[in-house]
Amino acid sequence: MELIIATHNQHKATEIQRLLPNWISVKTLDEIECFEDIPETENTLEGNARLKSTYISKKYHVNCFADDSGLEIDALGGEPGVYSARYAGENGDAHNNMDLVLEKMQGITNRQAKFRTVISLIIDGVETQFQGTIEGEITQEKSGTEGFGYDPIFKPLGSEATFSEMSLAEKNKISHRSQAVEKMIGFLRGLEK
Ligand code: IMP
Repeated sequence: MELIIATHNQHKATEIQRLLPNWISVKTLDEIECFEDIPETENTLEGNARLKSTYISKKYHVNCFADDSGLEIDALGGEPGVYSARYAGENGDAHNNMDLVLEKMQGITNRQAKFRTVISLIIDGVETQFQGTIEGEITQEKSGTEGFGYDPIFKPLGSEATFSEMSLAEKNKISHRSQAVEKMIGFLRGLEK
């Protein structure tokens, strides 16, 4: 089975490809010679994931999926959420984003947060969504050198380490993204039978 992943981000495509069994092969947008920016103008993860998958499915008539993820902090009313990538400005600098979160969280004792991923899969024109969530807390300071985004300030529930202090393999065992991908694999396995 071949699926197009609606992203230009090679890092993301490789990370997801590693989670998939080898009977699912993934091609990126660049590989189908789609070089345009796909709109991400909705204000929910669900809406943005759907926008991206629908755009590619309608334009290229292919089976495809898109994902959208974000960090949702309880004490900030779910922020940065859908704006996670550009919380501190359009250039999307991860350290500025984390600094802004730590600044807003100063003096706040409720540090509960979660990462959430929504995948929108379109097979033969029909959409199905899958969600993955990992609960945890925002640390007082950055710690660790691995990963990306908010990993240095997010400690999963029951863990002594931040995501950034884990290897990619350790993170992938529990991450929001891998949980959503696992659910999609289960669904696709059902279609293959
Ligand atoms: P995307 O939808 O996967 O591109 O994620 C949007 C933004 O959410 C990223 O740019 C990061 O700021 C944040 N984010 C999503 N997943 C993770 C993660 O696993 N670790 C840290 N930050 C993440």
